Amino acid sequence: MKCLVTGATGFVGMCTCLNLLNKKIKVIGVDNLNIYYDKNLKLDRVKNLKKKNFYIYKK
Ligand SMILES: NC(=O)c1ccc[n+]([C@@H]2O[C@H](COP(=O)([O-])OP(=O)(O)OC[C@H]3O[C@@H](n4cnc5c(N)ncnc54)[C@H](O)[C@@H]3O)[C@@H](O)[C@H]2O)c1
Repeated sequence: MKCLVTGATGFVGMCTCLNLLNKKIKVIGVDNLNIYYDKNLKLDRVKNLKKKNFYIYKK
């Protein structure tokens, strides 16, 4: 199974992605990395998620 998660680098999105990845589900994340809060936090989340089966599409 594959899942598409929008807002994937946000708080809820990141938790959702981790949950799915831990269940060995392939995840494709979509996020525009907006600057509502520090973007570096989101980039760190991407780095961590990429250690698993995660692909990110940056809008
Ligand atoms: N965090 C909570 O406790 C909580 C509780 C209830 C509801 N919510 C709702 O859940 C949603 C996500 O909350 P969150 O805390 O993860 O917010 P967040 O800001 O951490 O995450 C939202 C993510 O969506 C991305 N994004 C925004 N517009 C986009 C667009 N047009 N295209 C692609 N990506 C886009 C942002 O860059 C961000 O990474 C919000 O609608 C929020 O109101 C959150």
